[in-house]
Amino acid sequence: AEYQTLLVEQRGPVTLVTLNRPEALNALNAQLLSDLLAAMAVFEADATQGCAVLTGSAKAFAAGADIKEMQAQGFADMYAHDFFAGWDQFTRTRKPVIAAVGGYALGGGCEVAMMCDFILAADSAKFGQPEIKLGVTPGMGGSQRLARAVGKAKAMEMCLTGRMMDAAEAERAGLVSRVIPAADLVEEAVKTAATIAGMAPLAILANKEMVNYAFETGLAAGVQFERRLFHGLFGSADQKEGMTAFVEKRSGQWRGR
Ligand code: HXC
Repeated sequence: AEYQTLLVEQRGPVTLVTLNRPEALNALNAQLLSDLLAAMAVFEADATQGCAVLTGSAKAFAAGADIKEMQAQGFADMYAHDFFAGWDQFTRTRKPVIAAVGGYALGGGCEVAMMCDFILAADSAKFGQPEIKLGVTPGMGGSQRLARAVGKAKAMEMCLTGRMMDAAEAERAGLVSRVIPAADLVEEAVKTAATIAGMAPLAILANKEMVNYAFETGLAAGVQFERRLFHGLFGSADQKEGMTAFVEKRSGQWRGR
């Protein structure tokens, strides 16, 4: 499919989605959201695709929600249309999505990176929630996801001052899983995604679902949820195959059931 604001390519079992509004540093407008939801629907429905990578340019993953699109809107417009609610659908993607962040991930850009399952950062990456400088706040989950990712002290300081974190600080704080030289970012992210895509499909879904559950519930309920999903996988052919393959010292041949 052709998209106005994205480049989408399949690299084997990995769907690589590149945000492509260079004239606006990949600012997230309505067209981009609609393109992204369409691309993710194709990714989810395609059984040959096991993991996605979402990236931007070397200069900007995304410099935020599109300020020019929001500037003139009033409360009634925002509230009646539940502005930004469409992004919730992106977070409901069941297969994993890795954010590969080079350059600026600001405001909505940082928020979208945090909606992904984990973030790989180029050493050039910069993360921030500068909305306070525009007289507003994060609006796509940033206050909640950043606080969960880095704790209250850094989340509060970043939201109140708008200051940016560089990649090294973001890694120390737990916002990103790894820092990669900028020139290797996309290649390394695709390689990581291919590793994931090589796992048993049901196990991929179950692992993602249960880690996310840790952020939705208390410990006892989360452990119970994990155990039940774990039990459920013993009804799959791929559990038999995976454990047999281990005993036979070979790699598993997955059937996705
Ligand atoms: C619309 C944007 C934009 C944005 C950049 N541009 N960010 N357009 N929305 N968020 C546009 C600029 O207007 C400019 O267009 C072009 O992209 C290049 O940007 P420059 O500012 O000229 O580049 P540079 O000087 O290198 O500075 C890069 C930058 C700066 C530091 C990232 O662009 C910046 O501060 N951007 C805004 C960051 C921000 O506040 N993000 C949060 C948005 S609010 P022209 O036409 O002039 O060439 C948000 C929260 C949503 O995301 C929830 C609550 C509202």
